[in-house]
Amino acid sequence: HAADALRTDLMTLTRHVLNEQSKHPEARGDLTILLNHIVLGCKFVCSAVNKAGLAHLIGLAGETNVQGEEQKKLDVLSNQVFVKALTSSGRTNVLVSEEDEEAIFVPEKLRGRYCVVFDPLDGSSNIDCGVSIGTIFGIYMLEAGKAGTVDDLLKAGTSMVAAGYCMYGSSCTLVLSTGEDVNGFTLDPSLGEFILTHPHIRIPEKGKIYSVNEGNAKNWDEPTTKFVEKAKFPEDGSSPRSLRYIGSMVADVHRTLLYGGIFMYPADKKSPNGKLRVLYEVFPMSFLVEKAGGQAFTGKQRALELVPKKIHERSPIFLGSYDDVEEVKELYKQYG
Ligand code: AHG
Ligand code: MN
Ligand code: MN
Ligand code: MN
Repeated sequence: HAADALRTDLMTLTRHVLNEQSKHPEARGDLTILLNHIVLGCKFVCSAVNKAGLAHLIGLAGETNVQGEEQKKLDVLSNQVFVKALTSSGRTNVLVSEEDEEAIFVPEKLRGRYCVVFDPLDGSSNIDCGVSIGTIFGIYMLEAGKAGTVDDLLKAGTSMVAAGYCMYGSSCTLVLSTGEDVNGFTLDPSLGEFILTHPHIRIPEKGKIYSVNEGNAKNWDEPTTKFVEKAKFPEDGSSPRSLRYIGSMVADVHRTLLYGGIFMYPADKKSPNGKLRVLYEVFPMSFLVEKAGGQAFTGKQRALELVPKKIHERSPIFLGSYDDVEEVKELYKQYG
């Protein structure tokens, strides 16, 4: 009857995180407060993205970022929102954003124990045509008593304590892991709350989709070329895989997590370290895929074991279904 139609036992993101926190008696609620501020940033960006076309938020901001990319208005707006939300949480110390050349050091009186790396708006090339874009973030804990310098962020991704992304697509979906499993939440705009809709996400062992920018094929290395060749012309008589490439890492990774398959941004002759940035793209997504039962590989090593030397360092990445990434690892052993 009517009562069943409306879920009354709402598992909101906040309630879910508090449940997680209650498993750690020593926790002081700092991560819960930090995540609430990140969620606030995501809600703001979601509303800005949804009305971008109407609010003249489309197009270029007239600046170029450290990546040499022309910043879009939404890149700049989202970055400002997240820097303010993270700083005002009183739980952060050092911040690294794709859109800021230097690390951001939170003022003394607002300092906390967490360092956050983030891509405020991922998939900027898709903003002006209304295709899904997102926000990606990773959270490190400062060692007790440390002042917080860039060196605290130039560590392997295995030391990340939490990671997540928010995808601004046909619905606003936030996927998060605080170190155990991976859970997905969908924003209910009428409540302004993220509701648990994808509990305990597990990536299929093997997929039928590969996701890569085939336009770079001319410059690929041998293992990548071989993998894509086999995907299109399987030797064992199995049916070819499907290609799906959205061009926003958040959307391509989200589909890979839910449907299975492999997402690749390989090295190529032009960019030997690929294009994606280690701290705020490769590490958070690798963290999530591993927690969901998949793998993340750079062509040389397990992605999370990479130790970046610079905050905007790039790395090739192959991530997704366990068996699919295993195939890439075999090819790198054979032809790498
Ligand atoms: P960003 O918009 O944050 O700079 O990231 C864009 C990235 C990533 O979202 C996507 O996977 C990749 O760029 C697409 O690159 P290509 O257009 O070269 O395929
Ligand atoms: Mn960019
Ligand atoms: Mn990005
Ligand atoms: Mn970006």
